[in-house]
Amino acid sequence: MPKTLTQMATEVLNTANGREKTALSKRHAAAWFASRKGEAPAIEVGTATPPLQPARPDQPELLSPREVPKRKPGTPAGRVALLHAVAHIELNAVDLHWDIIARFGHVPMPIGFYDDWVKCAEEESRHFEMVCDCLEQMDSHYGALPAHAGMWRAAEDTTQDLMGRLAVVPMVLEARGLDVTPGMIDIFRKAKADQAIAALEVIYAEEVAHVAYGSKWFHFLCGRENADPKEVFHKLVRRYFHGVLKPPFNEEKRAEAGLPPDFYWPLTEDLPPPGQA
Ligand SMILES: [Fe+2]
Ligand SMILES: [Fe+2]
Repeated sequence: MPKTLTQMATEVLNTANGREKTALSKRHAAAWFASRKGEAPAIEVGTATPPLQPARPDQPELLSPREVPKRKPGTPAGRVALLHAVAHIELNAVDLHWDIIARFGHVPMPIGFYDDWVKCAEEESRHFEMVCDCLEQMDSHYGALPAHAGMWRAAEDTTQDLMGRLAVVPMVLEARGLDVTPGMIDIFRKAKADQAIAALEVIYAEEVAHVAYGSKWFHFLCGRENADPKEVFHKLVRRYFHGVLKPPFNEEKRAEAGLPPDFYWPLTEDLPPPGQA
């Protein structure tokens, strides 16, 4: 029996080593798109039982955000730490995109839904590899420093709720990436670190589409349920996201990704100002 897409996604989630995970992710993405172009036999979406948490390498050690040492970005060690944090985010993102495929195989969705997330997973795999290459060029590697634990929390909190997953992962967490990446590029530009600048510029350009796919499929599901997207978004982010959204926002890139200000600004405070409840 040929593998189904959700089985392929589960295999990626169950691969612990970072570079092995991204290599398998790219092979599965290539197989999916070859089949979609009719160059290979059709691949069914199917259903699978993904792990609650993806397999991860023994290193890096995972610490709570408070325990991760802060380093100044103006130093070489600070820049390594920053790229190490980005590598950790990218590896997590590979798993997040395969998880949305594996986790929600039972929810009937148009085929384009799978195309979009397979494409994202393939891009995240390249992002992780590019950032690992930068770290290695700086005499470090992914796993050399501790990394944030708890990045998988958004996925675990939304295993039963596809709209909640879309609201919190692409439309909150990945949108946050659009806000902070230009500042990171500036840090590496000041250091004339060309390889890191090039990697971050690819990431910045490609992440806009990930947020846009989140917004597109969120609106699709709201349409199917006849629900108001903005109201549902506010309700789900308040339910599943721990904390408030932090400005400044990259309003231009967020708009390009189909995320209007009235979606995210009201979530910057826990409670509406007095008189506006
Ligand atoms: Fe990425
Ligand atoms: Fe992404």
